[in-house]
Amino acid sequence: MRAVHITRFGSPAEALSVVDTDIPQPGSNEVRVKVEACALNHLDIFARLDHPENDGQFPKRTGCDIAGVVDAVGEDVPDSRVGEEIIVYPGTTCGECEYCLNGEHTMCHEYQIIGEDLPGGLAEYVTVPVWCLDPKPESLDFVTAAAWPVTFTTAWRMIVTTGRLRPAETALILGASGGVGNAALQIADFLGATTYATTSTPEKADLVTEWADEVIDYTETAFDDAIDDLTDGRGVDLVADHVGQETWQRSINSLAMGGRMVICGATSGPSPDIDIRSVYQHHRQIRGAPMGNRQDFRDVGRLIASGDLHPVVDRVIPLSRINEGHDAIENREVFGKIVIEPQS
Ligand SMILES: NC(=O)c1ccc[n+]([C@@H]2O[C@H](COP(=O)([O-])OP(=O)(O)OC[C@H]3O[C@@H](n4cnc5c(N)ncnc54)[C@H](OP(=O)(O)O)[C@@H]3O)[C@@H](O)[C@H]2O)c1
Ligand SMILES: [Zn+2]
Repeated sequence: MRAVHITRFGSPAEALSVVDTDIPQPGSNEVRVKVEACALNHLDIFARLDHPENDGQFPKRTGCDIAGVVDAVGEDVPDSRVGEEIIVYPGTTCGECEYCLNGEHTMCHEYQIIGEDLPGGLAEYVTVPVWCLDPKPESLDFVTAAAWPVTFTTAWRMIVTTGRLRPAETALILGASGGVGNAALQIADFLGATTYATTSTPEKADLVTEWADEVIDYTETAFDDAIDDLTDGRGVDLVADHVGQETWQRSINSLAMGGRMVICGATSGPSPDIDIRSVYQHHRQIRGAPMGNRQDFRDVGRLIASGDLHPVVDRVIPLSRINEGHDAIENREVFGKIVIEPQS
C-alpha cells in the first residue's frame, strides 16, 4: 500500500516520502481501516520539525483524523464489523487506571495518539483498536467526517469541559482561521457567548465574521489593547490560546478579573515570558485542556452530525500532493482543514 513517511527533520521536500509498504494486519481487538479521508493537523507539521512537540523518532507515519471503512478484523472482533463506515477517536489508553475508569482517557499515563505515537492514517490502510471506532454519521461524507476529530474534540474540551463557558459570557479565541481556533470559535458561538476572534489577514477576517461578533487583526492592533477597547476595560471571561509563548502575556492581559485562559498548544514555542502578577493579582486561572476524552468526542460529534457545527474544509488533495498540504499549513495559507484522500 502507499503511505506517507516522515524520514527526517526538514522541509516537506526533504522529509516526506510516499512509500510502498506492507498492508498492516489487525491484532487482537483491532480492526484494519481502509482510509477514505484523513485530515492534517499542525501536529503533522511538528512531526518533521525540530520542535519541542517532536520526539525525533523516524520514520514516522502521521495522520490523526481518520474516516474510512472497516476492511478486516483481528481476533476477538466479530466479522460482522467488516464494511462498517467509521470515524476514529484518535487516542488509545490502558483502560484500567484511575483516570481511564473515570472516563478521563487523556489523563492516562499510557495515553497514545494515533498518528503521533502510533502509525496514523496517511496511508491506504491503518490498524486501530476497535474501542476507537464510532459510526460515521450518514449526514457526513468521508471528507467532512475526517475534518473534525482532533480539532473539534480538543476545542470542545477547551471551551465546554474545561473552560465551562456560559451563554452570557464573553470569549476571545486566538487563531480563529486554524483548525482548533475555528472549532473553538464555532463552539463558543453555538453556546451563545459573545465572541472575539483574532486572525492575521483581511481575507481570513471576512470568513471568521460568520461566527465572531468582533474580529481583531492582530497584525494591525495589539489584541489585548483591542479587547480593552471593545469591552470598556473589563476584559473577557475566557481566552482560548493554542499559540503559546508569542501570545500568552497578551492573552492573560485580555482576561477579566477572575477570567480563565484555556490552553492546548504551543505553536510559537513553550516558554512564555510572563509577569505572574498579571495572573494572581486578578484572580485569573490558566487551565490545561489537551485533546478531549471519548465522551467529549461523542458530544461534539453529535453536534457536527446534526449540522449545528460545521468543520471547514480548505481543500481536498491526494496522497501524492502531501507536500502542498504541509507547505500551506506551515505558511499559514489555510482556512480550516486540509483533507487527504489516500485512495485517490
Ligand atoms: N494538545 C492537543 O491534544 C492538541 C490538539 C490539537 C491541536 N493542538 C495544538 O494546537 C495548536 C494549533 O493546532 P491546529 O492544528 O489548529 O493548527 P493550524 O490549523 O495550523 O492553526 C494555527 C493557527 O494559529 C494562528 N497563529 C497565530 N500565531 C501563530 C504562529 N506563531 N505560528 C503559527 N500559527 C499561528 C494561525 O492563524 P493566523 O495566521 O490567522 O494567526 C493559524 O491558522 C498546535 O500547537 C497544536 O499542536 C493540540
Ligand atoms: Zn489508563
